[in-house]
Amino acid sequence: MQGNNSVILAIETSCDETAAAVVCGGKIVSNVVATQAVHAQYGGIVPELAARAHQQRLIPVVEQAMKKANVTLSRLNAVAFTQGPGLLGALLVGISFAKAVAFSLDIPLIAVHHMRAHILSNFIEAPYPTFPLLGLNVSGGHTQLIFAKDHMCMEVIGETQDDAIGEAFDKIGKLMGLSYPGGALIDRYAQQGDPHRFQFPATNMPHLNFSFSGIKTAFLRLLDEYQSKDVQFLAKHRNDLCASIQATLIGMLLDKLKKAVSQTGIKTIAIAGGVAANSGLRSRLQHLARQEGWAVFIPQLAYCTDNAAMIAITAHYQYLSGDFCDLKVTARSRMPL
Ligand code: KG4
Ligand code: ZN
Repeated sequence: MQGNNSVILAIETSCDETAAAVVCGGKIVSNVVATQAVHAQYGGIVPELAARAHQQRLIPVVEQAMKKANVTLSRLNAVAFTQGPGLLGALLVGISFAKAVAFSLDIPLIAVHHMRAHILSNFIEAPYPTFPLLGLNVSGGHTQLIFAKDHMCMEVIGETQDDAIGEAFDKIGKLMGLSYPGGALIDRYAQQGDPHRFQFPATNMPHLNFSFSGIKTAFLRLLDEYQSKDVQFLAKHRNDLCASIQATLIGMLLDKLKKAVSQTGIKTIAIAGGVAANSGLRSRLQHLARQEGWAVFIPQLAYCTDNAAMIAITAHYQYLSGDFCDLKVTARSRMPL
């Protein structure tokens, strides 16, 4: 059961996806995402361009989401937005728009934490996980293990000390000359490669923390060494390189997940974030779940990468508990859970 009949418009502009969704009584009735292609030519996200693209696209995206949901502005009970973490200029576009809607319609405003929303993307479609659960957020900006007591109460119990796992995928993709972001391409090539062909040293940080910057350097060294002997090395071994590096990265995630399960005794696991789209991670997790007796939840692909449906479902729970903010609220590039 997902509660009352409130109708909420949700906006997501924290990074390079301009997104809007409408949730009615806990059910997502529309979800529109416009990905910004402008960054690919620069090999990474250019914050200024992201903010400008949000400015151009937000209103058409919202109009489309409202139309698909078949609701008018007068039917809205609240408007929600991503407060942070994210790119400040990008967040400001969404927050300003949401404030204008809340002010003009005189409806409550809901500030949503982007990482909490990633975890709650597992509550968009049934079957829903039960609490308490262990969340694993794996995106381009974050890698964190989360203890969630309920929809509203979450705590980070481990996180990366340097690069995020998605960032590692993308940087390694760049070293191989793949277009940005490289994560999904590495996944695709890995499916045709041998994961045991090359060995990379996995970094094991203390406690439940992660580090992904060393492995990128190890990859670069291996590439330089073999390329200096054979200029065709990369072209000949691309699939095996992708499969091997991906297997190492996933292994680092799963080792910490196992440790978190044994420390907390929690066997309900909810994965989220762009890297949760990775087919290797998904299949190894399903395998581990059967082996260890875990209940694993992974959102469908469209809800793994940044989207507004996850902001909307989080806003729904905040609406139910009366968690509103006033018009003085500001965007936060860094934001604790
Ligand atoms: O959650 P997300 O859409 O945005 C952030 O909040 O960061 O995640 C984007 C990240 C990028 O690093 C991208 O390369 C990675 O998710 N990604 C993947 C796959 N699809 C997206 N990484 C590995 N395998 C994939 N299939
Ligand atoms: Zn995200």
